[in-house]
Amino acid sequence: MSQPKSVTWKLDPHTKAKHEILQRYLGAWYPILCNTNERVIFIDGFSGPGIYSGGEPGSPIIALRAAIEHLANLQNELIFRFYDDILERVKCLEEEISKLEIPPNYNVVAEHGKFSDKILKPLEYLESQVNKPIPTFVFIDPFGFKDVRFDIIRRLLNLQKCEVLINFNISGMRRNIDHDDPKTKEHVHNYFDDNDIFEVIDKYGYKENILRTFYQKKLEDEAQFVRYFGMENRTGITVYYLFFASNNSLGHKKMKEAMWRSDPTGEYRFSDRTDENQTIMLIEETVTSNLSTILLNEFKSFGYIDSEEITKYVDDKTPFLEKHKNITLREMENEVRIVVLPENQLTGKKRRKNSYPSGTMIKFINNIL
Ligand SMILES: C[S@@+](CC[C@H](N)C(=O)[O-])C[C@H]1O[C@@H](n2cnc3c(N)ncnc32)[C@H](O)[C@@H]1O
Repeated sequence: MSQPKSVTWKLDPHTKAKHEILQRYLGAWYPILCNTNERVIFIDGFSGPGIYSGGEPGSPIIALRAAIEHLANLQNELIFRFYDDILERVKCLEEEISKLEIPPNYNVVAEHGKFSDKILKPLEYLESQVNKPIPTFVFIDPFGFKDVRFDIIRRLLNLQKCEVLINFNISGMRRNIDHDDPKTKEHVHNYFDDNDIFEVIDKYGYKENILRTFYQKKLEDEAQFVRYFGMENRTGITVYYLFFASNNSLGHKKMKEAMWRSDPTGEYRFSDRTDENQTIMLIEETVTSNLSTILLNEFKSFGYIDSEEITKYVDDKTPFLEKHKNITLREMENEVRIVVLPENQLTGKKRRKNSYPSGTMIKFINNIL
């Protein structure tokens, strides 16, 4: 979607899906981090007005409500910074914030200005907190691709406890690219902070998969865990990819859970065309077939391994969840594609059939015939 002229605009179904992912993730993120940290920070770098024309909440309000609803009795300091470069939208957001009951331990500020300028002060502060890093979540959700600088994202991901959720706006990029315009070229350069991008564009044009993979690799250079989720409009065109990048295994796991709930097929994709009432019958079958192949490839040359190792692998290296691991192992055991020792190695007790807690010893069988 191109930048609307009005202060608010209509909520698309894929924006609603994006909000659901954000809300579910934050619902898990705040309580986990507030248990162990005195302060946490949420920054919405392209905040919008906080409300859509139909009255639905925007991302800043969703982020605030997720915290208020989950953390009723916590005394930690929660810091929220919202930036937008259109003053009317900042004022509208302030109005929306004023309708909430903000607890006294919350520090909430909506500021007028450009993300790439506004982020510098918090970034420098966070970089100075080497001995006591503050968990920070940065949501970067522009309409297009201007003012999203990879040098800033790199600095954010190099902080010890920072995660980012980025709207990789492939349609905005396609829409606005004018090869001969030096200003646009500069934006593209800043977006990737890599001169190779121009060679890639010259060779392949603005091919979705190529650009997405290029960006994914850039993020993977900086963060251990990177996932993306595609958002399609009604005509089946990908509007953007929502990229999550983090160095925290638990955060990664929680984001995968949030994304799976928005697309139970496991394709990590939402389409405005999707019929919400349609039941998806083949999910389990697809999951087990895909995950069993992945596990077999990874573990076939091992002897017996602890189920814990398989869980860690599924959590950190695949798009699947622990529950998928269990379904898949159950099916593989029924088909004798794995062998499971009868005794749990940790407890010394006899194992319960169809369950694979830590200490369960499993061997994958490479049936070549
Ligand atoms: C896609 S909307 C954000 C929607 C919002 N995150 C939500 O989910 O409800 C992008 C917003 O970024 C603002 N914007 C555009 N360029 C910006 C910049 N360089 N820095 C900060 N905000 C900017 C626009 O005014 C617009 O309100």
